[in-house]
Amino acid sequence: MFDMKGNDNNTYNVDNFNFIKKTSPIVGGFIEDEYNRQKNNIELIASENYCSEAVLAACGSCLSWKYAEGYPYVRTTGNTGRYYGGTEFVDKLEEYCCDVWKKVFNTDYHVNVQPHSGSQANFSAYKTILNPGDTILALNLDNGGHLTHGSSVSFSGKLYNVVFYDVDDKGYIDMEDVRKKALEYKPQLILTGASAYSRIIDFTKFAEIAKEVGAYFMVDMAHIAGLVAAGVHPSPFGLADVITTTTHKTLRGPRGGLIFVRPELAKKADSAVFPYAQGGPLEHIIAGKAVCAEEALSEDYKVYAKKVVDNCKAMADEFIKLGHKLVTGGTDNHLILLDLSDEKFSGRVLQERCDENQITLNKNCVPNEKRTPKETSGVRIGTAPMTTRGYQEDDFREVARKIDSIILKLREEYK
Ligand SMILES: Cc1ncc(COP(=O)(O)O)c(C=O)c1O
Repeated sequence: MFDMKGNDNNTYNVDNFNFIKKTSPIVGGFIEDEYNRQKNNIELIASENYCSEAVLAACGSCLSWKYAEGYPYVRTTGNTGRYYGGTEFVDKLEEYCCDVWKKVFNTDYHVNVQPHSGSQANFSAYKTILNPGDTILALNLDNGGHLTHGSSVSFSGKLYNVVFYDVDDKGYIDMEDVRKKALEYKPQLILTGASAYSRIIDFTKFAEIAKEVGAYFMVDMAHIAGLVAAGVHPSPFGLADVITTTTHKTLRGPRGGLIFVRPELAKKADSAVFPYAQGGPLEHIIAGKAVCAEEALSEDYKVYAKKVVDNCKAMADEFIKLGHKLVTGGTDNHLILLDLSDEKFSGRVLQERCDENQITLNKNCVPNEKRTPKETSGVRIGTAPMTTRGYQEDDFREVARKIDSIILKLREEYK
């Protein structure tokens, strides 16, 4: 890992491009370039993080060589539920991984640790409780939702009938609208969770509405899972029937997904992952997920997650002091949505100009978006990765001032 100034401090060969170069100078070269980009840039992508070297080592381990289609089930049935021999150790690993994740969220929900990604977790989560053509009530992509929450270009919008709830004039999820649409459309599933929403989500209210209309309630906590684990965002456990997450965002683990379900949905969820959606599980990634879960249980992690939020609030405060507009006027979590709808330049232009200045962030739609998804009227900024690298509130304030000076230059150019 490198620190906030980009100094290498590696104990594991994170910089393994030199080894790879012996076999493939081309691929090793690409990795070296990306390593240096990550080291030298200020990384503010809200969905990214730097996992630990232990997680990275687990993901690069011999477990990558092992096939283990099926599930361990050794403890529950006394027999392995795998379709391959030689699974004794990966069985233990996978059961252990499930155990630690339950501890992280202090839950007796069943967990499936096999989904290769957040999108695949959502694919299998829907299959667990829905039939094609069923109705999902979800947050619109423009208002912060995710592609897999019903966008017409995703499987979710093609397999299911999706109705969207909106945010209010201030950018907060409009709970009146959720209830109104739930009563009107009688969805089989009410879904919440977001990719670009900076406020606390009221899971209790969602659960009440789902109960009122007899719908399943699902939370995709991919972005905020680390905050939930550390107790700095309310937990959906006990309220939602199905909970999905990625492990690589605020959780700071390997790239991958998890599905949690109420115990009575366990069998359906497992078969919705394997054999319905996936073949062999990535046991090396499952090892990385287990290490990530152990890290998430530590006191250090709790301190980290709180810092992520404090840093984000400080950065939001600086942007507001500098006169910028933020969707919802601030943040409760790890991200900020800078609203550029009054500017003559788009989110794409600001993203590209930040790239030139070694600041990595991404363009993002804002509520009532007037520009196309390729242009957008916003940028999304997250504090999780640079907090991992040691940035403090003052550092984030300084980055806000750097972004402000880039915006001031753009205003001059686009007069
Ligand atoms: C809320 C949410 N769900 C699901 C996903 C999908 O995760 P993946 O990219 O691993 O498929 C994302 C990714 O950004 C997300 O923000």
